[in-house]
Amino acid sequence: MFYDLARRYMFNKDAEWAHDFALGNLRRFKNTPLSLAWSQSLPKKPVNFLGLEFDNPVGLAAGLDKNAECIDAFGQMGFGFIEVGTVTPRPQVGNDKPRIFRLPEAHAVINRMGFNNKGVDNLVANVKASNYTGILGINIGKNKDTPNEQGKDDYIHCMRKVFEHASYITVNISSPNTPGLRDLQYGEALDDLLQSLKNEQVDLIAKHNKSVPMLVKIAPDVDAVQLTQISESLVNNRIDGVIATNTTLAREAVQGLEHAEEAGGLSGRPVREKSTHVVSELKRLTDGKLPIIGVGGIDSAEAAQEKLNAGADLVQVYTGFIYEGPQLIKRIVNSL
Ligand SMILES: Cc1cc2nc3c(=O)[nH]c(=O)nc-3n(C[C@H](O)[C@H](O)[C@H](O)COP(=O)(O)O)c2cc1C
Repeated sequence: MFYDLARRYMFNKDAEWAHDFALGNLRRFKNTPLSLAWSQSLPKKPVNFLGLEFDNPVGLAAGLDKNAECIDAFGQMGFGFIEVGTVTPRPQVGNDKPRIFRLPEAHAVINRMGFNNKGVDNLVANVKASNYTGILGINIGKNKDTPNEQGKDDYIHCMRKVFEHASYITVNISSPNTPGLRDLQYGEALDDLLQSLKNEQVDLIAKHNKSVPMLVKIAPDVDAVQLTQISESLVNNRIDGVIATNTTLAREAVQGLEHAEEAGGLSGRPVREKSTHVVSELKRLTDGKLPIIGVGGIDSAEAAQEKLNAGADLVQVYTGFIYEGPQLIKRIVNSL
């Protein structure tokens, strides 16, 4: 009811304005009676994943709370885990606006944000200031003006900064909105990056006497050969898990709709099938040995179950959550 009204109001506004408005209110009112509008206590459906105990398998996907400003409020909604970021070493403004577009007929969004964020030091300060005690993933990336050859240094910089504060770390090499980033998903570039990050993780575990799993987030726009190479590289470099998938560059599913030809990544219902396919292929290619978080087009209990059936251990939501609100978490958790 509350979210129906809020959505009706916000869907009449520019998409990024609505996003900032919503996050501003979640931040401002998280410790007031108004927070009752989104707080919900859900039955526990515990999942053990990567040595971590999750209250339920439904998480918030990266990109909604890029600077970790609202983790208390998202925790109040009953998410089993929250992923913040993508964060980069230095703050950056991202692409020119407008850069988020709704495609309501398709329950979809196209975005070309370009890793707008306030930098890793700001994110860490926000995490420290929060009261959230649940599972927190921190998703890291590279600055736009860092050449790919030095991209590794950006990821290592962020890893060092967030390590102590993260339950797990996600290495994002699959955003379509940072030029050249997806090149890091293939061949030697991928092996080289993963090897360095694995070495860094081992050093950090020893230094902090704390184990923080490292996951890699991949795109849905990969062919069979690429996916085979990626899964080999993830396994060979002893990466702890994979998040599948980010947004897609494909547009077949939304042809003819308003905004369909905007540049950027498409998310929501039109990416569901592609993401599920990547999840099931990863499961098969790694003989079920690689832990998987499934994300892409989950907007119902049935869509979440599809990802779990395909081999995902946990799921995340973003676009479905924009369309359905906190009730979506409840519907999925209750159905499990
Ligand atoms: C506006 C917007 C911004 C996003 N920003 C990020 C990001 O910063 N990092 C990231 O890893 N994924 C980002 N994503 C991708 C989502 O985390 C998710 O992988 C993708 O949207 C597919 O899930 P969905 O269909 O539930 O939205 C973003 C998605 C949207 C719609």
